[in-house]
Amino acid sequence: MSTTTIAPPAPDTWGPAGKPDPLIGRRGLIGAPVSRLDGPLKVTGAARFAAEFPMPGLLYAALAYSTIPKGRLTVLDVSVAESAPGVVLVMTYRNAPRMARGPVFLTAEKALAGDDLPVMQDDQINWNGQPIAVVLAETQEQADHAKSLIRATYAPAPAITTFAEAKTHAYQASFAGHDLASARGDAEAALAAAPFKVDSIYRTPFHSHNALELYAATLAWDGDELTVHDCAQAVSHLAWSLAQIFGIDEEQIHVSAPFVGGGFGGKTLWQHQILGAAAAKLAGRPVRVVLSREGVYRVTGGRTMTEQRVAIGAQADGRFDALIQTGTIAKTAHNAMPEPFISPALCLYSAGTVKLNVQAADMDMLANTFMRAPGEAVGTFALECAIDELAEQIGIDPIELRIRNEPDKDPALGTPFSSRHIIEAYRSGAERFGWNQRSRRPGARREGEWLIGLGCATATYPYHRMAGGAVRLTLGKDGHAKVSVAAHEMGMGTATVQTQVIAERLGLPLDHVTFSYGDTSLPGVVLAGGSQQTASIGAAVIAAQRELVAELLKLVRVDSPLAGLAPDDVGSMPGGALGKLDEPERSESYVSILARARRDELTVEASAPPPDELQQWSMHSYGAQFCEVRVSAVTGETRVSRFLGSFDCGRILNAKTAASQFRGGIIMGLGLALMEETLLDEHNGRVMNPSLAEYHVPVHMDVPKIDVMWTDIPDPRTPMGAHGIGEIGITGVGAAVANAVYNATGTRVRDLPITLDKLLANL
Ligand code: MOS
Repeated sequence: MSTTTIAPPAPDTWGPAGKPDPLIGRRGLIGAPVSRLDGPLKVTGAARFAAEFPMPGLLYAALAYSTIPKGRLTVLDVSVAESAPGVVLVMTYRNAPRMARGPVFLTAEKALAGDDLPVMQDDQINWNGQPIAVVLAETQEQADHAKSLIRATYAPAPAITTFAEAKTHAYQASFAGHDLASARGDAEAALAAAPFKVDSIYRTPFHSHNALELYAATLAWDGDELTVHDCAQAVSHLAWSLAQIFGIDEEQIHVSAPFVGGGFGGKTLWQHQILGAAAAKLAGRPVRVVLSREGVYRVTGGRTMTEQRVAIGAQADGRFDALIQTGTIAKTAHNAMPEPFISPALCLYSAGTVKLNVQAADMDMLANTFMRAPGEAVGTFALECAIDELAEQIGIDPIELRIRNEPDKDPALGTPFSSRHIIEAYRSGAERFGWNQRSRRPGARREGEWLIGLGCATATYPYHRMAGGAVRLTLGKDGHAKVSVAAHEMGMGTATVQTQVIAERLGLPLDHVTFSYGDTSLPGVVLAGGSQQTASIGAAVIAAQRELVAELLKLVRVDSPLAGLAPDDVGSMPGGALGKLDEPERSESYVSILARARRDELTVEASAPPPDELQQWSMHSYGAQFCEVRVSAVTGETRVSRFLGSFDCGRILNAKTAASQFRGGIIMGLGLALMEETLLDEHNGRVMNPSLAEYHVPVHMDVPKIDVMWTDIPDPRTPMGAHGIGEIGITGVGAAVANAVYNATGTRVRDLPITLDKLLANL
């Protein structure tokens, strides 16, 4: 195996010899609606998920949870549970192994823990629902039964369990070391002087993650080596973080997660994996820990609540004099995730003056975390509702108002946009959706009991890329290629899309490429988050392909048509060959090169360059969301009857999996708009609705046919011309629905979810 010897491409060219990535202009497999390669494994049940790994001597875990938010345990009686049928042991703070605190996500390169609280090391309680005991038994039913026999009493301590109280201690929020604040000019003065203005408070609630697959791990120690079958969206991070907690080397931990049943930002490191590993150590047997649905709500974090003020001052022609978005989010003192709701306002509009700020307020509750489009999902709700309200006041079409405030460069950074076609997305979307059917007067359309309204909103999500995506590429003498990287398939299509991209880049048919992922034995450190996995792996694959070209050229014989050529002059050719870029008939197949060199295979490993493109360009995905609702004048219920997402996300790499990602995001956005809300009991901070019976997510009957379209304009500054698409779908949906509800009814709901009680009084 060789290591990288040629310089990786400059980050705004990506092709050989400083040219654009050749895949940007190529059709072939790029964009093709290839069905999921992992689909057959999933529908036949052959795909094995974290809780499905059999192991000899496997024990099953059940977790008991605290019922107070803060204080200490006075009695923790596990004696009856210990003698229940099938029980092997009960672990509490009294007998748990000593462990270091978890490294909090974002505080170190591979830190993944949801919080840095001690895990079952003392009698202290830090949130309502904290695990206080782990029962290990021969069956899950025996463990669950024994858990019900545990008795605990507490000495409560004063706790902050309401957002209102927490807000009285709010402080400047910072995210990844940067204050969530941006200001230009005197925005309050400009707002006061503006002839048209809106100024309102918007609220979004706590949301819990509800990935279909329950959070689970099957763990086994072999001496000081730990194997974890997990459902993590960051296997390398999980291994490193567990290693810190147990005081061992990360090489001693093997994490495997080839299939993940939904992640959305939540499938990271929570107490259940740590407790599972600790209990397995104590028992000397492998352990399976599967959180119940209630357990997911008690132990794993979700999206926190926000309270946002948006104020916009404008001239009669619509131009913004002042753009203000400020407010407070709830978090805990033990995590590092202040929901960055100002991100959309940083990039979407030009304005004479700007004031953006996020304050944080700490509560005694389960640590919040990342959830699909953190920041943008709720930030666009407030911002894009306010723009709709302003448009009505000025008497201008809301799309036109947005177009009049379209910036020509990044409003906060001053850098040029790498690729921004948001107006095109709006125009084509408006035409397809029939935006001209919208009445400007609210409540003007009615069919029987149903009030009908249309709304729109902007979607946006940043382009990110991580540099840790080292990949290993092996080319065999049969002309098949294998690419390995510790990346993840959480259902979004990674395995399929990467296979397409690799095949196209190497000039091979799809069935000549194997893509391996989801295991810490593979190279690279790529977390599936921030909608950046595709670009990150894609950039590393470019580097690996250039390295492969260089290594193959060293093998060619003097009589090869490629003899004497420099790597920059040579590229992959369709049919599985290397050829001279400007003289493609000078080529030799991979099979021939390897055969004549008497090589069975050739392996290279290469890494992507650092994401320098982000220093030079303002890089984001965009979209325009269009919604039609029908609101019953009798019951106040809102039914979404039509939805269109029109996206501008660079080059689309697979039309089928992309449409699915966009639709999935939009459906999650419908939940955010109309249903989802984790309810905390204000007296004791306990989640009151920890089940899918009481925490509502959209079901089939709630979701109309969702139409999606995209500009498909490549961004020349990214690998393959592509942007991330995993998160943008949810953004803007809350506002598009709220704006449609206003258009239907004349009632402006500024606190999510838009439930019938908030509409009935005014109908
Ligand atoms: Mo996403 S919230 O970055 O998994």
